[in-house]
Amino acid sequence: MGKSILITGGAGFIGSHVVRRFVTKYPHYRIVNADKLTYAGNLDNLSDIEKCSNYIFEKADIVDKKTIAALFEKYGFDGVIHLAAESHVDRSISSPDEFVHTNIVGTVNLLNAAMATWKNDHSGKLFYHISTDEVYGSLGKEGMFTEETPYDPRSPYSASKASSDHLVRAYWHTFGIPVVVSNCSNNYGPNQFPEKLIPLAINNIRNNKPVPVYGKGENIRDWLYVEDHASAIDLIFHRGTPGETYNIGGNNEWRNIDLIKLLCRIMDQKLGRPEGTSEKLITYVKDRPGHDLRYAIDSSKLQREFGWSPIPDFSEGLEKTVDWYLSNTLWLERVLSGDYEKYYDRMYSGR
Ligand code: NAD
Ligand code: DAU
Repeated sequence: MGKSILITGGAGFIGSHVVRRFVTKYPHYRIVNADKLTYAGNLDNLSDIEKCSNYIFEKADIVDKKTIAALFEKYGFDGVIHLAAESHVDRSISSPDEFVHTNIVGTVNLLNAAMATWKNDHSGKLFYHISTDEVYGSLGKEGMFTEETPYDPRSPYSASKASSDHLVRAYWHTFGIPVVVSNCSNNYGPNQFPEKLIPLAINNIRNNKPVPVYGKGENIRDWLYVEDHASAIDLIFHRGTPGETYNIGGNNEWRNIDLIKLLCRIMDQKLGRPEGTSEKLITYVKDRPGHDLRYAIDSSKLQREFGWSPIPDFSEGLEKTVDWYLSNTLWLERVLSGDYEKYYDRMYSGR
């Protein structure tokens, strides 16, 4: 058996793509996916690999110190890829507390468990923390976030992620725990929970429901296909230098309104509706409080050092995403009805 790797949040959107990639590409690694299975965690995302002999699922809350310590004791992890988080900005505005618990306290619990397990033997060990470009704040019309951009988080979500990033780096500087951090732009693709812009819009268009656009729709995001994020994580995990930060982005900036209009055109084609039908569903709604205007990532360090690059064609990625949602309507219905949450509660009650 090669490395023993803990992936947290592996039942979520990005985590499930990372788990699948590692389980299938590295059969000699033992991959332990620890996930609390909140509303955003869904084991259906991993049904194709759940029987692989190098894959183990553990239902675990990273806020629970004892559970995390016990997992490290049981599996003696060499590496951690930490994705578990509360991830939705709007939810962080309505209830910030959970973001503080999971994103900050949960991260410290993992760092402490790694430190207790690894002691002073750091050879072959790595704590890889997955973060977001939102920690850098909001850009005006010009410029891009680099690894040197000072932190300026503006939502409870980004503040909690910034705090966890600082703690991860503090454990490197103070205790010598080998860490890497990556900060990524907006992901899209299969398995994203339909509270985020792209899957929410696909689902609403499919059901002829209004597509809510916050404010004037002029905010800009830099979109990256989720598999490209997973491939960057793979490279950074294997080749990243401890103590370093890597920015990951799609070099693919879109105003929300332009993105939604492109999606409407794709949906009209896929659903065989006359051109212009879906655009009529666009509805401008009250803006998100503190809504960051623009994110744009400079990922030249990652490209230069590891030869990484994202897929060049956004409409191709978007079409693939639309195709996935349209052929996985059962997944959507189950996620939206909350059926799977009830199922997990039953399945794991008493454990
Ligand atoms: P997600 O919300 O889809 O999934 C989060 C996962 O974490 C879920 O499976 C959930 O059950 C699990 N989880 C939540 N709280 C937990 C806890 N206390 N203990 C154990 N597991 C818990 O999130 P995502 O979009 O896949 O994001 C994954 C990571 O990537 C996050 O750290 C996020 O900040 C970061 N990120 C996301 C994006 C994006 O566009 N989605 C971009 C950059 C960075
Ligand atoms: O930049 C990386 C971040 O991207 C990640 O760290 C977060 O976890 C992830 O949720 C995402 O944050 P955003 O807030 O950018 O994503 P969201 O899909 O919620 O919104 C994208 C943009 O679309 C944003 O400007 C708000 C707007 N929006 C969103 C929703 C849900 C709408 O106009 N209407 C909507 O209904």
